[in-house]
Amino acid sequence: MTDTGKALGHLKSARPAAPRPDTRPAKHTVTLIPGDTVGDEIAEAVVKVVAATGVSLGWDRQIAGQKAQARHGAPLPAALIESIRKNKVALKGRIGTPIGGGSSLESPNVTLRKVLDLFASVRPAANLPGLKSRYEGIDLVVIRENTEDLYAGIEHEVVPGVVQSLKVVTLAASSRIARFAFEYAAKHGRKSVTCVHKANILKMSDGLFLDSVRTVSRDFPGIECREMIADNCLMQLVRNPWQFDVLVMGNLLGDIVSDLCAGLVGGLGAVPGINVGDEAIVFEAIHGNAPHLEGQDLANPLTLLVPAVAMLRHLGEEEAAGKIMTGVSRVLTEARVLTPDLGGASHTSEMTQAIIERMAN
Ligand code: IPM
Ligand code: MG
Repeated sequence: MTDTGKALGHLKSARPAAPRPDTRPAKHTVTLIPGDTVGDEIAEAVVKVVAATGVSLGWDRQIAGQKAQARHGAPLPAALIESIRKNKVALKGRIGTPIGGGSSLESPNVTLRKVLDLFASVRPAANLPGLKSRYEGIDLVVIRENTEDLYAGIEHEVVPGVVQSLKVVTLAASSRIARFAFEYAAKHGRKSVTCVHKANILKMSDGLFLDSVRTVSRDFPGIECREMIADNCLMQLVRNPWQFDVLVMGNLLGDIVSDLCAGLVGGLGAVPGINVGDEAIVFEAIHGNAPHLEGQDLANPLTLLVPAVAMLRHLGEEEAAGKIMTGVSRVLTEARVLTPDLGGASHTSEMTQAIIERMAN
């Protein structure tokens, strides 16, 4: 041992001072709902990245979906709803949705929107620096009515072999989402709001929606009010998406159009789902369930990280949001430590670590 080594020997054996636990309450508390299948893996990645920004944020973890069903007998336990009501902000993964087969169970994702009256779904589709996509320079926002329309979930069998699904459209909900869209456009310096509809066929329901948008638009003379029939709009979005700014529509069309817009900018991982109500706001991942990826550490963490960045911005934590976006764009452009769906061969945990290492300026 060298002299220096000897001299330092006593220091080595001395017990290092334990870091003092930070007992201050977190500045923000957010309900975290990892959801089903890959939800836990992705949520773990997001928690790590957010912690690495140094932001003072505490998570109130709530289980949902299959685990909640097994433990509490319901996919959306009362404690989860209470937690969101209390914290007013939530970050949520995807909860499994039973498909067809006459299932009487509504998707818990939809139930949550209705129970908390999260009447507006905002899905901004913009290119992420470095994320491969078919289009560049896209910057549009889909605003979707989130509580009624065909999502009212009213279906019945008239006689065997004949079923009906009711499309419910009200003046109150249509005017509310129209006003939300124009106010959003005004607040964010947007130039136009396009109402997407099928009022040539659904003369009463989409007719009422379109009329409501036209009426509300009169209060916003500085913002151009456009209207477009849905099938034409989908074609126009593929041919010339740059002509659009804010788009507003009913629930089912909003579901379809928002996936198409996500496709323009590189997929569902690039677009956050932001569900807004008067009492709460829920930021969610809009990816599918990906059961084949479960437990493999291969799911793309951006699907929940991009909504988490939108959430940090909502909380006024612009610096933390910026740090994460710096890390993400460096990983997408330079490091290329990416999960297989993004063209790489890395694990979720490796991509997460790569983002954290590149967040600093
Ligand atoms: C979405 C999804 C949901 C919807 C499903 C999972 C219920 O596609 O958030 O866009 O249809 O709204
Ligand atoms: Mg969808």
